[in-house]
Amino acid sequence: MVSRVKTVAFQGIEAIEIDVQVHLSPGLPSFSVVGLADKAVAESRERVRSALHSIGLAAPAKRVTVNLAPADMQKEGSHFDLAIALGLLCEMQVLQQYMLDSYIAMGELALDGGLGPVSGVIPAAIAASSSGRGVICPKYNGPEAMWAGDIEVLAPPHLLSIINHFKGSQFITPPVRPEPVNDTSPYPDLSGIVGQETAKRALEIAASGGHNILMVGPPGAGKSMLARALSGILPPLAPKEILEVSMIGSIAGTIREGRISGHRPFRDPHHSCSMAAMVGGGVRAKPGEVTLSHNGVLFLDELPEFPRQVLDSLRQPVENGEVTVSRANSHVTYPANFQLVAAMNPCRCGHLDDAAKACGKAPRCATEYQSRISGPLFDRIDMNIDVPAVEIKQIQAKQGTLEPSAKVAERVKKVRDMQNERYKNSNTRNNSDLEGDLLQKFCALDDECQELLVRAAQQSGISMRSYNRTLKVARTIADMEGASSIAKPHLAEAIGYNRRMVA
Ligand SMILES: Nc1ncnc2c1ncn2[C@@H]1O[C@H](COP(=O)(O)OP(=O)(O)O)[C@@H](O)[C@H]1O
Ligand SMILES: [Mg+2]
Repeated sequence: MVSRVKTVAFQGIEAIEIDVQVHLSPGLPSFSVVGLADKAVAESRERVRSALHSIGLAAPAKRVTVNLAPADMQKEGSHFDLAIALGLLCEMQVLQQYMLDSYIAMGELALDGGLGPVSGVIPAAIAASSSGRGVICPKYNGPEAMWAGDIEVLAPPHLLSIINHFKGSQFITPPVRPEPVNDTSPYPDLSGIVGQETAKRALEIAASGGHNILMVGPPGAGKSMLARALSGILPPLAPKEILEVSMIGSIAGTIREGRISGHRPFRDPHHSCSMAAMVGGGVRAKPGEVTLSHNGVLFLDELPEFPRQVLDSLRQPVENGEVTVSRANSHVTYPANFQLVAAMNPCRCGHLDDAAKACGKAPRCATEYQSRISGPLFDRIDMNIDVPAVEIKQIQAKQGTLEPSAKVAERVKKVRDMQNERYKNSNTRNNSDLEGDLLQKFCALDDECQELLVRAAQQSGISMRSYNRTLKVARTIADMEGASSIAKPHLAEAIGYNRRMVA
């Protein structure tokens, strides 16, 4: 007889059901795992053997064959241990097949039979619930699995607890779904940033429409501080977005004890970041920074210092909201709909516009420095603003009277709600996602505005993509004023934010 236990394998953030088939046959004792298993899966036979021995059930002295079907799909990770062990226990008549039919099992076994945490429990539980099954996962991951909705979750600490549970001698208490955490990640408050009125206004527009923004200015002007302040004015995640973000967190293994946050992700990778770390992939495919910042912000500080290849790899996700990573034998697609926020100095010394401080190489060094960012990437940035240094005098004069982030956040939320209502029947979430027909419809210009934009575009030689992005920013500015169509002042302001840097 063959025993079957269901588990999952991951493709991107999707969980695919895997049938673990265990068979005992006569012959010299052996234990083999087939079905495109990677090293961690193949090693599971050692863990399973020791775990069974630890609970006083020696693996039978026969040929044990484990097949992971479908056999042509790559299987990665250590979570297959539990399903293999349960299948073997069935073959050994310790458990019965019918007991396991209505579950998906995943967990890593310790040599003593304990069950250790695994990643990807939320997508697995969602897959289980859509096929009408429950989930068996390690105790640590139990609260996480509860987020999948109305589903039976068995979260035992040890292999022995499962056997006792099915035999009726021990009851595994169902895990409790924790409350969402109120993330109090420390971000600078806008009221602590003096001057920089233009930058603050631009930041509010970017937050309201989900626009990409690049800030250019001398060192110490407050660019990094402004970018971090954005985190405090973004609206909270919608329920659908929370689920997407937590599925990604679950795959990446970043959810601690089922604690899920309603705050938008804010990722700020260092510029030494590698290609695999940025877009995902590598030997064990993991989501990269672009995916971890899905529905949130990806902040790239000191933009030109990132390797050129890494920057250019951002083009696809910025445009499509997803990233496809090619691997030796498959393609994996991850969601990557983030708001790009970048900051840079105008040149290497950073004081291009200050004749007293600039180095001898200006302005040639600025051209060189800025050319590290390719035209196509510039094209994908909706707003491109100057952040000049603030005078020290100003800092003393104005502190304590400035608008706090919470107030700005209220306005931003109103504008976002407006967009959600307007785009509720489409895939578009905010103005920055507008494409095709919807762009035509909601960003229609009268003749006067059309002429203004065409003239500005021709003078600066910008591309059609850049033209459309300016339109979207203008739409957001109009929304912030509650205007139904884009008027000349909205467009003029948007054009002001789309100026290409002049060296
Ligand atoms: N406009 C400002 N208001 C208040 N503090 C500022 C301002 N600009 C800069 N600072 C101070 O200077 C520090 C450096 O700013 P930072 O954002 O790192 O500059 P940049 O990234 O432009 O080099 C901040 O931590 C803050 O203490
Ligand atoms: Mg900085």
